[in-house]
Amino acid sequence: MKLIIDDADIKKIKEIYEFYPADGITTNPSIVSKTGRPPYEVLKEIREFIGEEGDLHVQTISQKAEDIVEEGHRIVAELGKTTYVKIPVTQEGLKAIRILSQEGYRTTATTIYTPMQAYLAAKAGADYAAPYVNRIDNLGANGIESVKVMQDIFKKNGFKTELVAASFKNSQQVQELCAYGIGAATLAPDVIKNLVFNPCNEAAIANFKKDFEGLCGEGKTMKDCE
Ligand code: E4P
Repeated sequence: MKLIIDDADIKKIKEIYEFYPADGITTNPSIVSKTGRPPYEVLKEIREFIGEEGDLHVQTISQKAEDIVEEGHRIVAELGKTTYVKIPVTQEGLKAIRILSQEGYRTTATTIYTPMQAYLAAKAGADYAAPYVNRIDNLGANGIESVKVMQDIFKKNGFKTELVAASFKNSQQVQELCAYGIGAATLAPDVIKNLVFNPCNEAAIANFKKDFEGLCGEGKTMKDCE
């Protein structure tokens, strides 16, 4: 499962990349708006930092397919041909996904709430489909189960489309889908950090340090002990 950062704040992105094996970035218009900066300025800075090989998913705004396609052309012209044009799944969005896919552009179908929306996105040729786990839960449905059904639909129908599940709020949601073999998860920086922080693990490490220092002296490590 690829580990993607769902944020456009370059400071937070650099911090996650320093410590975690991240594969790329997803953004949406709300995430970009939080930076308060011109979108292409922010996105070019991200592209420069992650390089051409890093996954970058950038969302379109338009409602009509022809306009979405034009946005896709500009996004890729500005940010490089490996950029995924992220398109909300509507009737017009599906048309745009099909056109851009046929033109050889990489696409990510987003705002997915149901397995059949994911199915249609895959049929239209999307490279990725982004279901919103926590938002599905908030509707009284089951986000994890819905994403598992989407994964089964993709595999059983032989679609090349991968899931990039989004809208996670806790580690349990991520773990369940990681164990199910989905293609990618995009997580807010705090959700990523919560995958490693654990009081039991910190207590165990503190205990090892105390025992070692009892043997070798305070501050000693394997670098400078006898
Ligand atoms: C990413 O592609 C989605 O836009 C995002 O994860 C939605 O997350 P939210 O429900 O926390 O806003």
